[in-house]
Amino acid sequence: MAAPDVVVLGIAERSEGEEPFPNVLGPADGATGGVLRAAWARREFRGKRRELTTFHRPADGGRVVLVGLGPVSGYSAESVRRATAEVVKGLRGKGARSVGFVLRSFTRGPVKGPAAVRAFTDGAILGGYEFVQYKSSPEAGVAEVTVFTAGMSAAGLDAALTEERTVAEAVVWAREVANLPADTATPQRLADEALRLGKELGLKVTVFDEKALAGMGCGGLLAVGGGSSHPPRLIVLEYPGKPSRAGAVKTVALVGKGITFDSGGISIKPAAQMSYMKFDKSGAVAVLGTVRAAALLGVAPRVVGVLCCAENLPSGGAYRPGDLVRTFNGKTIEVLNTDAEGRVVLSDGLGYVTKTYRPDVVVDIATLTGAEVVALGDDTAGLITGDEPLARGLLAASGATGEPLWRMPLTDYHRELVKSEVGDVRNSIEVPLAGMLTAAAFLETFVDGSRWAHLDIAGPAYTTITTRRYQPAYQNVGATAFGVRLLTRYLLDAGAAR
Ligand code: BES
Ligand code: MN
Ligand code: ZN
Repeated sequence: MAAPDVVVLGIAERSEGEEPFPNVLGPADGATGGVLRAAWARREFRGKRRELTTFHRPADGGRVVLVGLGPVSGYSAESVRRATAEVVKGLRGKGARSVGFVLRSFTRGPVKGPAAVRAFTDGAILGGYEFVQYKSSPEAGVAEVTVFTAGMSAAGLDAALTEERTVAEAVVWAREVANLPADTATPQRLADEALRLGKELGLKVTVFDEKALAGMGCGGLLAVGGGSSHPPRLIVLEYPGKPSRAGAVKTVALVGKGITFDSGGISIKPAAQMSYMKFDKSGAVAVLGTVRAAALLGVAPRVVGVLCCAENLPSGGAYRPGDLVRTFNGKTIEVLNTDAEGRVVLSDGLGYVTKTYRPDVVVDIATLTGAEVVALGDDTAGLITGDEPLARGLLAASGATGEPLWRMPLTDYHRELVKSEVGDVRNSIEVPLAGMLTAAAFLETFVDGSRWAHLDIAGPAYTTITTRRYQPAYQNVGATAFGVRLLTRYLLDAGAAR
């Protein structure tokens, strides 16, 4: 095998004291004619996070790149994921097609071979991704990534790579959909994506159009979608599952908020808060990506994916503050603010899936509140559930994938706040109090007592040119498809244990 254009080695952060030249750099030092050893001696590279240092290989014209891994304490798969993405992103447009990672320079402490290989796979595929469909001449990126396993048994490495590659490719696929602008990614377009996925993977997909929704009593979707010339859709995908062990989760319902554009409606948003609202479909797209990965990997539980899709625009057909909306399960919503539309469409999706499928577990995922972004920032999602095993399962999946979750409380105080004087629940309250939690209290009304968790991904669903600087390199500018890796991991593990 010819040497790749770039050989990559990980360097842990160095202390101030004298340290011997690491053995693992020996072969690369030879290839650079001893330049590496000299650079080590004058502390040219320090192993700091995001640090990239390039050397050349005179004999074959290739390169050696050293990437900083950050401090040894706290070293984790996330360090490898970030470093890999940093390399692959840094090489875009720089004439490197093939890259090889020296595994041994990335394994230490808790990060063994398979974990490192998973992290390379995530980092390379996600870090290499950019939304370029609309660019006339995109720059070429890295096309081929290899891992040098020399001296390490390959047992488990291949399986880890194959599984993680499927997940990471589903994330990229989801990002491509989530990044589409709202004129293109209409509710019907999301339905078309689901139907195409169903055909490809042999899944049952049902699309309810506005007429069907009227017949079913889905007043929430119809109200929110009423102002747009692109009518709402409720999309249901079913993956049948694999026979699983007794006691394991049997049916998992995933319900996503799919607002293709959120102008706020009649309670219109200020311009600055509207510019990223094509990403308000990110929950639905995360469900789509998760169903794709789950079906390709053959996870044990049966998975029912539900996408609640509508466009929230003001017009003569739009719903209004003061409207009383009757939803699928018969409960009524007093609309006080048309910008609290996510919970209104989710009411139908949650009501529908709990009644129709009687799932063992329901997880909804939604860019639901600005309050989530204020509370947890743009890297962490809010987790709200009263179900301890479900919380443990989701937090474990979060830890394993590096998609951060933080659990928040839901109490009778929040339930009290969303009660309506004239209907069953109100979609907003007059004071800005615990907005993420009152939204969860609202949603709980529609899950019919099921084991249920709510993920508010308003912060981590996308990055902007400003926030991108602070995010790991595996998050591109635009949609992150947050939740696909987390939920797929949950489904993989939920088959084995509660
Ligand atoms: N889609 C927004 C929430 C959002 C804000 C997502 C920022 C991503 C970034 C949601 O529909 C919304 O407008 N929520 C309101 C609710 C309020 C009117 C009760 C909010 O959070 O301000
Ligand atoms: Mn809104
Ligand atoms: Zn919204």
